[in-house]
Amino acid sequence: MKMTDEKQFQSRISRVLITEQQIAEAVRAAGERIDREYKGKPLLLVSVLKGSYIFLADISRAVSIPCEVGFMAAKSYFDGTESSGNVQITLDLAQDISEYHVLIIEDIVDTGRTLSELVKMLKAREPLSLKVLTLLDKPDRRVVEFKPDDALFTIPDHFVIGYGLDCGEYYRNLPYIAEYSED
Ligand code: IMP
Ligand code: MG
Repeated sequence: MKMTDEKQFQSRISRVLITEQQIAEAVRAAGERIDREYKGKPLLLVSVLKGSYIFLADISRAVSIPCEVGFMAAKSYFDGTESSGNVQITLDLAQDISEYHVLIIEDIVDTGRTLSELVKMLKAREPLSLKVLTLLDKPDRRVVEFKPDDALFTIPDHFVIGYGLDCGEYYRNLPYIAEYSED
């Protein structure tokens, strides 16, 4: 169903969890950490679409050392009983990552399934190093053991929208992160 009713759209934004300003400050600080860690190294920032498109755009501009960007997309298939599952790459990187220090830029680590599988697949390609920076971490929801190397905000178990994160493909364009609720 396409959403066109602005009133309904607004009514499902339950409350702002992280403001635009809080995000900007955390992104700026993360950019400085990346500058320090990867100075003098060939760096590839990898965005996992679609959720991280805004975060990648902001993080890449907070980094002042030379870096390249790459894009991937993945689909997950889980039957609800398996503790770890199947992730299929639907859009692959153009770069041969064996020449790079790779930093995955992710929107949220929830159950941990997607990233734990993706990290395994990318490590098999033998990058110079591989780390994960996530905007949000929801550790209470973890099903598979997975710890991001860096997380800007740790949040409780509540479905969130905005700043790239969607509900049924809507709300990615909110400049802040909010809790979602249907009533
Ligand atoms: P995983 O459960 O850690 O594999 O996360 C898979 C994907 O689910 C994330 O990359 C997000 O795209 C999506 N996701 C998980 N939690 C949320 C949420 O609270 N809001 C929007 N998307 C979410
Ligand atoms: Mg995602």
